[in-house]
Parts: sequence; structure tokens; C-alpha cells
Amino acid sequence: MSGSSKRPVSKWQRFRQKDVFVRDASRLGVRSRSFFKLEELDQQFKLLKSGMTVLDLGASPGGWSQYAQSKVGNKGMVLATDILSMQPISGVQFVQCDLAGNDAPMRLFDHLQQRKVDLVLSDMAPNITGNATIDSRNYFDLYTAIFKVCEVVLIESGSLAFKFFQTEETSILKQNCKFLFDTCKIYKPQSSRSTSQESYMVSRNYHPQNMAESPLALRFT
Ligand SMILES: C[S@@+](CC[C@H](N)C(=O)[O-])C[C@H]1O[C@@H](n2cnc3c(N)ncnc32)[C@H](O)[C@@H]1O
Repeated sequence: MSGSSKRPVSKWQRFRQKDVFVRDASRLGVRSRSFFKLEELDQQFKLLKSGMTVLDLGASPGGWSQYAQSKVGNKGMVLATDILSMQPISGVQFVQCDLAGNDAPMRLFDHLQQRKVDLVLSDMAPNITGNATIDSRNYFDLYTAIFKVCEVVLIESGSLAFKFFQTEETSILKQNCKFLFDTCKIYKPQSSRSTSQESYMVSRNYHPQNMAESPLALRFT
């Protein structure tokens, strides 16, 4: 038996050590490898500009909020929210909130002092149970929550970028975005693991008057 006191390294830890984005996140002092996904989305779609007001849903541990804050600067504002707590980030406001709760949109709007936002971001993901029916329902609860938040806080002509997981229901999500926005594009960043089912839907130029008749609203009312 060797006298080494080194702890065994798990397969997952070895995988993470090899992951260039995990290494970069640690080297650059950013909160998560997700930081690079938003950076890529922004490079692709020019989502963030100085002075914008941004709402970051499912923000913890804070990589997206760090990136968004660095782009909107001191003239802008980032409000981050998550069901979990988040360590403070300079220039970012935080509200701990379950977005699936009915009161979430108004709580966020009140926190914004009833000011609408230019961009809603969501990197939210539910816990996976392994039961396809329950997981599909949980995803949809989160997507519905995102649109309910948009209904209350997103400014006319604003943008939405959110994470979704490829399922047979992806088409209704896309239909919903096309109904509410002028454009809807699907994008898988290189920094998103190829083994992950996640992708991002990026929608521009919001038409709030269409919300009540949108496919998702009709399905869940
Ligand atoms: C992939 S992480 C987000 C990573 C983050 N964008 C970053 O850059 O660090 C997904 C987050 O969604 C949050 N989430 C899941 N369900 C939620 C809910 N119902 N309400 C609020 N946040 C939720 C989780 O707590 C988790 O922090």
C-alpha cells in the first residue's frame, strides 16, 4: 500500500479538471463556467449594452450576473434572482425568490420600483427526478414562470434569452416566442457541453399586447 495521503479523484472531478471552461472560470475568478455561455450568446446576438436594465432569473452562483454587470456598467442595472442564496456581486442587486411562485413577478417588479427591464435572461434549470413526466412538467412550470415574469416586467420591444431542454415540447416554446417577439433563434454555445440537452432561445422585439393570446398562456389558463 502506498503512503500517499492524496484523496482519490472521482471520474467527475477528472472530467471537470480537463474542462477548459471550468479552468478558465477558475483562472479568471468568475463564478461559474456559465459565464462563458452568456458571453457567447452576447457575442452572437449583441444582447447587452451599457446603461441597460437586466433581470437575471436563476442567477446563482452568479456567472451571468457578473458578465451582465460588466456590460451594462454603472449606468445600467442588474437584478439577479434565485431560489437559492447568492454571494453578493458588486453592482448587482439580488432577491431570493422561487420563480414558480405566483407572487414572483410582482415581487420582482416591486423590487425594480415598477420600472420595466430591457432584457430578461434565464439560465434556470429544475432538479431532474429521472421521471420523464414529472421532469417535463417541471421544465414547463419554469418556462411558464419566465413568460409570466416577462408579462409584468419586460418593456415593449425588449428581449428574452432563456435556457431550454430539447424535448418534444420544444416546438410550442418556439411558437410562443414567435408569437410574442419579432424574431426567435435557437443557439447552442460551444461552452455548453455537447452531452447536455440544453440550448438557448433568444427572442427580440417583444409585443406585450400578444401575451394573453399566446400559445402557452392559452394552454395554462
Ligand atoms: C445552471 S444554474 C444558473 C447558473 C448561473 N446562470 C450562473 O451563471 O452562475 C440554475 C439555477 O436555477 C435556479 N432555479 C431552479 N429553479 C428555480 C426556481 N423555481 N426559482 C428560482 N430559481 C430557480 C437554481 O437554484 C440554480 O441556481
